[in-house]
Amino acid sequence: MELSGWRQSRAFLLCFRVGVALLASVPLFVLIGRIASGNLGPDPGQEVTQALGIAAFQLLIATLCITPMQRWTRWAGWIRVRRMLGLFAFFYACLHVLSFLQFILGWQDLWATFTKRPYIVAGSVAFLVLVPLALTSTKGMMRRLASDWKRLHRLIYVSVVAAWIHFIWQARSDVGEMVVYGVLIGGLLWLRARWNGWGVLVPFVRNPRVVKRRSI
Ligand code: HEM
Repeated sequence: MELSGWRQSRAFLLCFRVGVALLASVPLFVLIGRIASGNLGPDPGQEVTQALGIAAFQLLIATLCITPMQRWTRWAGWIRVRRMLGLFAFFYACLHVLSFLQFILGWQDLWATFTKRPYIVAGSVAFLVLVPLALTSTKGMMRRLASDWKRLHRLIYVSVVAAWIHFIWQARSDVGEMVVYGVLIGGLLWLRARWNGWGVLVPFVRNPRVVKRRSI
C-alpha cells in the first residue's frame, strides 16, 4: 500500500530516520557517558563487552521487527530504516568483538578461545554471518544480486539464533531475560514462516512464495 497523508511527506520520513538513528545510538552514548564518569563497576572491560553485546543483539531483533511493523501498519517508511538498523547491529557487534579481544582476552590464545569455548563459537557464527550481509547492504549490491540478495540476507535468521544461543550459553543468572528474547525471536521467525512458508527460514534455498512477496 502507498504511503498516505502526512506519513508520506519527506519531512516526516527524514524525522523518522533521524529519530531511529538517534535511538540506535543511545547505547553508545550511554556507554561513553559511563566510561567518562568512571561508572563501570569493578570490571570495566567486562561491562563494556556486555553493553556492546546486548546492543548488537537488541538491534538485530529490532531489524527483524521491521517487516512485521510494515505489514501491520501498512506504512512503507519502516523499510527505509531497516538497512540502517542492521548496520547499527553490525557496528555494535564489531565493537563487542573488539572489546572482547582487547579487554578480556588481551589478544592471546585466539585459536584456543575461538574453537574451544562453545559460547564463543556460537558468537563467532553470529558475527561471521553478519559480515556478508553488511558488505552487500548497498543499493548497488542489492541490484547486482537481484533475487539472490534476498536469499543471502536470510542469513540474519542464522545470526539472531546463534546470538541467542551465545547469550544463553554464557549466562550465569537471570535466565528469564533470555527466555523473553527467545520467545520474541521465535515469534518473529514464526511470522516469516506463516507468511512465506518454512523454507523462508533457510538461507539460500529458493522459495517461490518469497519471490512473489517482498519480505526478508
Ligand atoms: C566473535 C564473536 C563474539 C565473541 C568472541 C563474543 C564474546 C562475548 C563474551 C566474552 C561475552 C561475555 C562477556 C562477559 O560477561 O564476560 C559476550 C556476551 C554477549 N554477547 Fe558476544 N561475542 C561475539 C559475538 C556476538 C554477537 C554477534 C552478538 C549479537 C549480535 C553478541 C551478543 C552478546 C550478548 C547479548 C552478550 C551478553 C551480554 C550480557 O551478559 O548482558 N555477541 N560475548
